[in-house]
Amino acid sequence: MSQPLLKAEQISHGFDTQLFENIDFSLASTQSAAIVGRSGSGKSTLLHIFSTFIKPNGGEVFLFGEEIYAQPEKAIEALRRYDIGIIFQFHYLFKGMSALENIEVATMLSGETIDEGLLRKLGIDEVMEHKIGDLSGGQQQRVSIARVLSKKPRIIFADEPTGNLDNETAVLVMDVLMDYIRSNDAALLLVTHDESMANRCDTVYRLDEKMLKEQV
Ligand SMILES: Nc1ncnc2c1ncn2[C@@H]1O[C@H](COP(=O)(O)OP(=O)(O)O)[C@@H](O)[C@H]1O
Ligand SMILES: [Mg+2]
Repeated sequence: MSQPLLKAEQISHGFDTQLFENIDFSLASTQSAAIVGRSGSGKSTLLHIFSTFIKPNGGEVFLFGEEIYAQPEKAIEALRRYDIGIIFQFHYLFKGMSALENIEVATMLSGETIDEGLLRKLGIDEVMEHKIGDLSGGQQQRVSIARVLSKKPRIIFADEPTGNLDNETAVLVMDVLMDYIRSNDAALLLVTHDESMANRCDTVYRLDEKMLKEQV
């Protein structure tokens, strides 16, 4: 198997109480993994630890072979800008700008071009000139996903990306994410409480009793 894009060793973290201990995890290119678990079990925290946003109290996280929290802030910023894609349920689009302008911000920063086919697949190609504020919540979510994928990340971290979408749109978004990782040698780590979305991933893990266990 190829060198993993993401590798985490012996991750422990907690705030007031310990959330999890000694978690090992790895994800290789073209692979997808889902993390499920009850609300408050620490799924989002673990995703933030894996994606440069929270330094864990214990353990090490390697992205593309390098331990992230040992690197200077500039290197971490470059990782966020070029190499990782982050999709959260509550997206951060510029309300006064058009859908196209929002996506252009990301492609300009990363030096990529907009993939028209991706916009068509997501069903948002015809609303590109519309202001974000005039789009439905589901359309906005798809614009934010197009924005993330347009910068061509090598690994995608998605926290409840389909949480506020109807089922048909959720299935469409999962199709697009799966296509993307296959055709770009990328990887997907998905956090969700929706088992049907989780089951589309190669591996499903459950965070429970401070441990991450593969679900069989
Ligand atoms: N920055 C923080 N400071 C203090 N407590 C936090 C912080 N982030 C999360 N928590 C707490 O950690 C627990 C796990 O949160 P979270 O990772 O969001 O769980 P999940 O995504 O599984 O619902 C919750 O009890 C939450 O209140
Ligand atoms: Mg969460």
